[in-house]
Amino acid sequence: MVDLRGLVSSKDLNKDKLDFLFSLTSHLKNTGKSKLLQDSLIEQSVGTVALIFQEPSTRTKTSFNEAIFALGGRAIDFNIKNSSLTKGESIEETVLNLNSLELDGIVLRSSEEFLPSQLKALNDVDMWIINAGDGKGEHPTQVIGDTFCLMDSIGLSGKKITIIGDVEHSRVAHSLINLWPSLGVDLSLLPTSSFKSDLNSFDTLQEAQDYSDVLYVLRPQSERWSSTDTEILKSYSDITVNSLNENQYLMAPGPVMLGVDISSDLLKHERSLIFNQVNWGLYGRAAVIKYLSEGGNFG
Ligand code: CP
Repeated sequence: MVDLRGLVSSKDLNKDKLDFLFSLTSHLKNTGKSKLLQDSLIEQSVGTVALIFQEPSTRTKTSFNEAIFALGGRAIDFNIKNSSLTKGESIEETVLNLNSLELDGIVLRSSEEFLPSQLKALNDVDMWIINAGDGKGEHPTQVIGDTFCLMDSIGLSGKKITIIGDVEHSRVAHSLINLWPSLGVDLSLLPTSSFKSDLNSFDTLQEAQDYSDVLYVLRPQSERWSSTDTEILKSYSDITVNSLNENQYLMAPGPVMLGVDISSDLLKHERSLIFNQVNWGLYGRAAVIKYLSEGGNFG
């Protein structure tokens, strides 16, 4: 039997794979959900997929659910509280049982960092796994959607993008930092805490705004703070994005905290890409699922 395949880290992505996925994603997006469903009924379905979410989600879980349905598959909303995980069964045993039940894939949002990578190392499991966010670790399918959203709108290579906010606790930021510089993005940070990286860091919002083509804004990730991290919220008062310079774009992975990370009138600003990111996330995830279900792999 083959081993568990899947996408668990942005480090598993490179330009060639992204170019392939962008082409597939664009095709799926141009086709649209309804037509995809009609086509999937006569083509091969992506099968049955367990959505195992240990943390809340709106965008990621709904987009996986919709993508699986559009590709002729069935998503099982795996209810952790009513599962045998509550009786002490491990997540590894759970995966082995889902394999015996002949499921095709697992989408996992875990509160524990690196759990998707650990599970991908399981042997003799004929399924695939996708990391839908692991603690403050990574969120690879978010950055796939965001990358494609930029490629489709203003382009990626050479663009000056600054990530603003709670970089330290953001799995999205960690995946962006892994990926975007390797794709030619001039990536800078305006972090709220003492986050250390080799990237250029700004000290003020004004500096970031003067320099950047795109402001990529993060909410305070308070669910992952320790008691000493509450100071982070105070520093948001200096970095709330209230306006955009001419030709400057706004991105955010969501959820946004209006009035804290951006002002409410920016959500639907003509150069806000926030809702476009969500739509590209839907079709980017559909492309990853289709690729994996047809035998592809990452990393
Ligand atoms: N961006 C993102 O992961 O949003 P959700 O937590 O709503 O899925």
